Amino acid sequence: MKKNQESGIKNHGKQGLTNPRKIKFFETRIADFFRKAGREHLPWRKQNITAYEVWVSEIMLQQTQVSRVTSYYAKFLKRFPTVRALAKADWEEFLPYYDGLGYYDRGRNMLKAAQVIAKEYAGTFPRDKKLLEKLPGIGPYTAAAIMSFAYGDEHLAWDTNLKRVIGRFFLGGKQLVSDEQFWEDAFQTSRKTLNAALMDFGSALCVGRPKCEACALQSACVYYREQGKREKKRTTNGRRLTAKKIDWKEAQAYVFLHENHKKFFSSLKMSFKPFILPSGYNTRAGIKQYFRDTYGLALSVRPPHRKMSLQGRPTLLVNAQILSGQPRFKVFSKKAKEEYTENIGHRVSRAFRAS
Ligand code: ADE
Repeated sequence: MKKNQESGIKNHGKQGLTNPRKIKFFETRIADFFRKAGREHLPWRKQNITAYEVWVSEIMLQQTQVSRVTSYYAKFLKRFPTVRALAKADWEEFLPYYDGLGYYDRGRNMLKAAQVIAKEYAGTFPRDKKLLEKLPGIGPYTAAAIMSFAYGDEHLAWDTNLKRVIGRFFLGGKQLVSDEQFWEDAFQTSRKTLNAALMDFGSALCVGRPKCEACALQSACVYYREQGKREKKRTTNGRRLTAKKIDWKEAQAYVFLHENHKKFFSSLKMSFKPFILPSGYNTRAGIKQYFRDTYGLALSVRPPHRKMSLQGRPTLLVNAQILSGQPRFKVFSKKAKEEYTENIGHRVSRAFRAS
């Protein structure tokens, strides 16, 4: 029995109003959902999957849709069936099996990590979350996914789905999970099952605009009871600022600039900062023009990967790649780079709140 099952006391733990019965209810209903609607057909959900196979899927799935990844995954593993096979490849051999997934830094980090694992770990991913996190492109989420899916170890893989589902059900809002250790101790279900189930539940029902009417957890869900009020921001005059009312034409653009494996700071400060463009430069053409006129750089600009409200202002997060020109900026620190790679939205908003 885990900590809070033993105590049986209501309203304990930093994460507030929760109790063993409620946790049990949550796990039971999530397990029911998973039995009925889990995506167990996905190729990276097979039994006895290796750490290498999990890792390949997780890197490909970062910011790329499941349907797109499935068409790459099998071909990739056929050509590079083991980490040693991948470690022998150079960029030219690798690229045809990755090209089209975007975010080429992820690809470069894959090659680097494969080489480290081949050389320093005799071709086997270490069964140690902290050692995994030291590998290029692997952050806490990916390390937890490898540990749970491949090694069956007990780590929650805190992606946006887990945060949203747990945050809403127990606390009323997707952004409210603050004490991850509390939840690590709270659940009884194996992490391999719970991680997969919550990812699937979070992408089928508990989505951005949740489908509460179809949800079997509704009766005990704080988000549902409160009609999501903790997620809805209010303007200064007390009115709700709903997604519909946001005028994205007025948005500011936060541009994350990279060139091959380098990413750039927008200033000399050694902190994680994108380029914040003046209003009027929030379209792809506008961003290109701004960088051409201001820094003499030609860019390839991707569509915004996230739209969010930052300090009350509609904000677009945009990745851009330098095609030509001499960037005169500082390069990201290793830590900032890892934070960037892993789960960008949450890290970004946290970084901004901290600065
Ligand atoms: N199963 C394991 N990892 C996953 C992910 N990142 N997205 C969807 N399904 C997954």
